[in-house]
Amino acid sequence: MTQRGSAPFDPLAAVTLPALDTPLAMIMAERIAQSGPITFAEWMDACLYDPEHGYYRRGRPTVGRDGDFLTSPEVHPLFGASVAHVISELWSGEPLTVVEVGPGSGAMAESILRHIHATAADLAAELSYALVEPDPSAAEQTRARLSHAHDARLLQFYSDITEIPSADLVVANELLDALPVHRLVARAGAWREIYVDYSRALGFRDCELHVSDASLLDPLMGVEASERQIAEVSPVRAEIVEALARAVCDGGLLLLFDYGYERARLYASWRRDGTLMTFRKHVPGDDPYVSPGETDITCHVDINQVREAADAAGLTALPTRSQAEWLHDLGAAVLPAVADAGADKSRYLAARRAAETLADPAGLGRVAVMAFVRGDTPPLSGWRGHA
Ligand SMILES: C[S@@+](CC[C@H](N)C(=O)[O-])C[C@H]1O[C@@H](n2cnc3c(N)ncnc32)[C@H](O)[C@@H]1O
Repeated sequence: MTQRGSAPFDPLAAVTLPALDTPLAMIMAERIAQSGPITFAEWMDACLYDPEHGYYRRGRPTVGRDGDFLTSPEVHPLFGASVAHVISELWSGEPLTVVEVGPGSGAMAESILRHIHATAADLAAELSYALVEPDPSAAEQTRARLSHAHDARLLQFYSDITEIPSADLVVANELLDALPVHRLVARAGAWREIYVDYSRALGFRDCELHVSDASLLDPLMGVEASERQIAEVSPVRAEIVEALARAVCDGGLLLLFDYGYERARLYASWRRDGTLMTFRKHVPGDDPYVSPGETDITCHVDINQVREAADAAGLTALPTRSQAEWLHDLGAAVLPAVADAGADKSRYLAARRAAETLADPAGLGRVAVMAFVRGDTPPLSGWRGHA
């Protein structure tokens, strides 16, 4: 007689996704078999940005409810409206240019533009909005999405940050935490680099070798690492921040939202495994070798590195805020009481719920809001107290 219903309940079975043997896995296996181990930065770059098979180049949703993880602009238009408020504070009545880098689905651009059209028609008429989207099919989708939100003549698309115009605001949400990192591991008081190796028997795996470039160790000077501690370092982030900072015009602002920590906290000896995470279908993981090209890989940002790069381009840092603090100071974290909500109560309740999500100190509210100005800007309410 067969027993029915006796298997113990395994809640993990519901949240573990099967690994995919992806086209990129086969390409990378071949490449490593031919030329030997590659740095983790090369691996992550291929996984996210391979022109044909990279996670951000497949022409499918990555962020949002149909994608793999939720970003602030995808939660609710309230986030974009908050950035729109910053734009209105920067506006002096002259034509104004905003550059958004890595717009994803275009959700932030759409909510910024809709908010400005709804609340400041005179500003909308003066606002050029430029988007940097290297993927041509994503750029086309975003162009279509924004076609009803703004005058097409005031929308520009660029495929590379080296082409961007001088701007009053350069803004990016979760750009830097999606850039490739090198992974270093502390061994007997020195750093070794983690490369990616492959064998048919063991698949993709970590392999520790020499540090590929001595400058990778610069941010780790003075770090008292614990044995086998992992540290992620991303020189390309500094290059990108510097390029974006150079585009900021006098009186303008560079505004970057990213998960990150100050260097001392990022490389603290108790953070033994680093910050690398993967996401597929809203399931977080920690194995970057599962389903390459079908999975997001992300690492927290070194806030000091961002500050140094902005400083090298002549910008001055405003105090780094958490997203929760920033939304509070803007007045977007707590909505007015329901009695003031007007007729549409369900929209009000959705916005109130979104405000809680965006300012949740255990979730999106802990995103770092990093802001840098060139010269004098008008007082900005997200940074009350900044002269
Ligand atoms: C985590 S997603 C965030 C998307 C969107 N900003 C959001 O918040 O929903 C990171 C985005 O940065 C883009 N990206 C990465 N490097 C870039 C670069 N050099 N120039 C422009 N976009 C880039 C990726 O293609 C991807 O769309």
